[in-house]
Amino acid sequence: MRTILVTGGAGFIGSNFVRMILSEHSDVRVVNLDLLTYAGNLESLGEFLNHKNHIFVKGDICDGELVNDLVVQHKIDAIVNFAAESHVDRSLVEPGVFIQTNVTGTLTLLKVALDHKLERFLQVSTDEVYGSLGTEGFFTETTPLSPNSPYSASKASADMLVRAFSHSWGLRCNITRCSNNYGPYQFPEKMIPLMIHNALNDKELPVYGDGLYIRDWLYVYDHCTAIWKVLTQAEPGTIYNVGGNNEKTNLEVVGIILERLGKPETLIRHVKDRPGHDRRYAIDSGKMMKELGWRPTVTFEEGIVKTIDWYLANTSWLNHIVSGQYQQYYQSMYSNR
Ligand code: NAD
Ligand code: TYD
Repeated sequence: MRTILVTGGAGFIGSNFVRMILSEHSDVRVVNLDLLTYAGNLESLGEFLNHKNHIFVKGDICDGELVNDLVVQHKIDAIVNFAAESHVDRSLVEPGVFIQTNVTGTLTLLKVALDHKLERFLQVSTDEVYGSLGTEGFFTETTPLSPNSPYSASKASADMLVRAFSHSWGLRCNITRCSNNYGPYQFPEKMIPLMIHNALNDKELPVYGDGLYIRDWLYVYDHCTAIWKVLTQAEPGTIYNVGGNNEKTNLEVVGIILERLGKPETLIRHVKDRPGHDRRYAIDSGKMMKELGWRPTVTFEEGIVKTIDWYLANTSWLNHIVSGQYQQYYQSMYSNR
């Protein structure tokens, strides 16, 4: 039995990862450390919360003593770090907490991993560390880092710390850099669940600027399988890009959502753009495919239908979120925009 410390396992991707591990790998035990910020939600773990191979701990990745105790007490073999402040728009309002969790938090985890010579440290990073592309080309693992938002700057800083721990002390690390994820349990501050929620309630769909910004969409389950492959098969010290090969403009995505829900395009409202908005992200996942035999299995057309259907079938999950602090968040971000 191997035991992994998963941080941020009550968030969107982390909860999907924990569900996948507990469903498909009965020889793996998960210690799940999550601060339960606004983005963390135990409801996202459902029946897996009480699974025999799952231990949930509410706490901060910046708390070195706690992380150290967990590693000793549960004989942790590896850390997979999902915990982060993850929303670009929030980072443009309040960058400090992004530095605290994404940089200081990662440093704290790395120090404990090194003290205990853990088998592996996997940092879940993002393609946003590479900055923005023009109309041509793809990010590869050797594209220079050029982050543009406080969020991506904090993630790039964390990547540099991981690199330094690997280079200086031989800590067995990997970094994955994935494109935009979508799927079940995503907090409705991110574009896809926000647009689904608004469309369902006949509210305006706030499209930033001209709506011709391009993202590469990766179905969350495909991301989770990629992380597992890197954790279990990759050489230490390596970086892998993970993409869905699904480039779409924001207007195309919004159009697909409206069509599926049978709602009119008149709900679309172009609003003031995000400052410094990255124009295009696109990922070359060739290294993942060649070296680890991974490939995405869900096309955007399939994944968006699964996602919309999931939100339709899980209205109570969504309603619990939007009935709380979310209203204030939405007002502050979108009224007068
Ligand atoms: P999320 O915001 O849904 O979840 C983050 C989780 O981390 C939450 O459960 C939150 O409670 C927890 N957390 C926050 N601060 C913490 C702290 N100090 N200590 C412990 N837990 C803390 O994020 P997500 O979308 O699931 O993203 C997970 C990871 O993947 C992040 O590192 C993010 O940068 C990266 N990523 C996400 C995407 C995407 O499209 N969502 C794309 C690329 C990379
Ligand atoms: P988002 O889901 O916030 O992810 P990221 O900024 O990390 O790529 O946004 C995806 C795209 O959608 C991005 O180009 C910004 C745009 N967007 C809107 O047009 N309206 C919105 O309300 C949101 C949240 C995002």
